Amino acid sequence: MKQAVAQAAVAYIKPKLGKDSIVGVGTGSTANFFIDALAEIKTFFDGAVASSEATAERLKKHGITVYDLNSVNDMEVYVDGADEFDSQLNLIKGGGGALTREKIVAAVAKEFVCIVDSSKRVEVMGEFPLPVEVIPMARSYVARELAKLDGMPVWRKDFITDNGNLILDVQDMEITDAKALETQINGIIGVVTNGLFANRGADVVLMGTPDGVETITL
Ligand code: A5P
Repeated sequence: MKQAVAQAAVAYIKPKLGKDSIVGVGTGSTANFFIDALAEIKTFFDGAVASSEATAERLKKHGITVYDLNSVNDMEVYVDGADEFDSQLNLIKGGGGALTREKIVAAVAKEFVCIVDSSKRVEVMGEFPLPVEVIPMARSYVARELAKLDGMPVWRKDFITDNGNLILDVQDMEITDAKALETQINGIIGVVTNGLFANRGADVVLMGTPDGVETITL
């Protein structure tokens, strides 16, 4: 399903791309399938911006030019997976720990195309622990503040983000107002960002199912 949805994403974005277009590329196993499929149309666009070191490496291996985001003004589209999504196309991301760069690249893109298999669809988000990237010295303080929001923060041991920070995975959250919670958590001092993509959610979700790929918009 991940492979099928990756192929569908390439078919979806191809008509939007021109010789000068830049594609934002996410991180994870579904995004990896997308990178492999994207390589087949690499002559149709200029290059890519990567949301992680791992993605940059994979893009380069395929001979796709990887740009620093600071040298890019316009990005046609950002394509990435998710850990959960709901009917409003709010997402939880960051299972792979790349949430901050993913959120930055998504912010620049005109359109966010989310590619998932059907196991990622939920009624209420929060069963997947919500990743929060934290400046190392603030870890305990942020954990105490997150506990006040009725979540159970768990330090992702032996993991350092591409930005040199830590991840707290917040378990047992029932997320009913994703936009408000995203803003609230980002307001805790020491938080770099959190894995809720609600204030800038997906514009379209391509969902792989056993019967084919569904296109979901609001
Ligand atoms: C990476 O940090 C995440 O946001 C991924 O996009 C997310 O975990 C989805 O990964 P898979 O495609 O491997 O399920």
